[in-house]
Amino acid sequence: MPGLESLLRQNRSWSEGVRLADPQYFERLSSLQTPEYLWIGCSDSRVPANQVLGLAPGEVFVHRNIANVVAHSDFNSLSVLEYAVAVLKVKHVIVCGHYGCGGVKGALTDHHLGLIDNWLRHIRDVRQKHIEELSAIEDETERLDRLCELNVADQVSHVCQTTIVQHAWKRGQSLSVHGWIYGLRDGLLKDLQVSASSIGDVAEAYRINGVKVAAAATAAIPA
Ligand code: CO
Repeated sequence: MPGLESLLRQNRSWSEGVRLADPQYFERLSSLQTPEYLWIGCSDSRVPANQVLGLAPGEVFVHRNIANVVAHSDFNSLSVLEYAVAVLKVKHVIVCGHYGCGGVKGALTDHHLGLIDNWLRHIRDVRQKHIEELSAIEDETERLDRLCELNVADQVSHVCQTTIVQHAWKRGQSLSVHGWIYGLRDGLLKDLQVSASSIGDVAEAYRINGVKVAAAATAAIPA
């Protein structure tokens, strides 16, 4: 593994550097994680959560998939969300998209891409929902970037519509859900101003007011 040797070398020197600056660092972190944020972002290699937020290991819980989708039937993202909200009790969920997203671009074409077409169907739904606004944008890049923003806003709604988030709000837990977007060209994050922090922010059809409040999970499930 010639190429991988350098990665292992880099890891050793990183670990040494961290321990030099803070000898108890790994010992402390190995027994407890108390992140205040859950990041739901795109798998794109150019948008790594910790680096763009300037956060150290242990400070942000992360879920990434193609085009930062939160689908109601996806147990992967729902499990991450449940652990982050009910056990770690993060204060903020940040759904972060990025301009020029290849996944979103795929949903704007009629090309058959493979298995991923089924995943991108979620973004086609967003495209169809906003078809009038998107059709009025002549410039292709601008249209793609607008769909990237609209997708973030829709996924924020999906997070809020989950029983996980609504139960947390009913328990009186302090929790906000935000929609941000990242610019690959300047490395800057932009708040899309679609934050939600109470059940009043959930459209009526998705509210679960009649559902018995689930007890907060307290068991230390390993993540
Ligand atoms: Co992307």
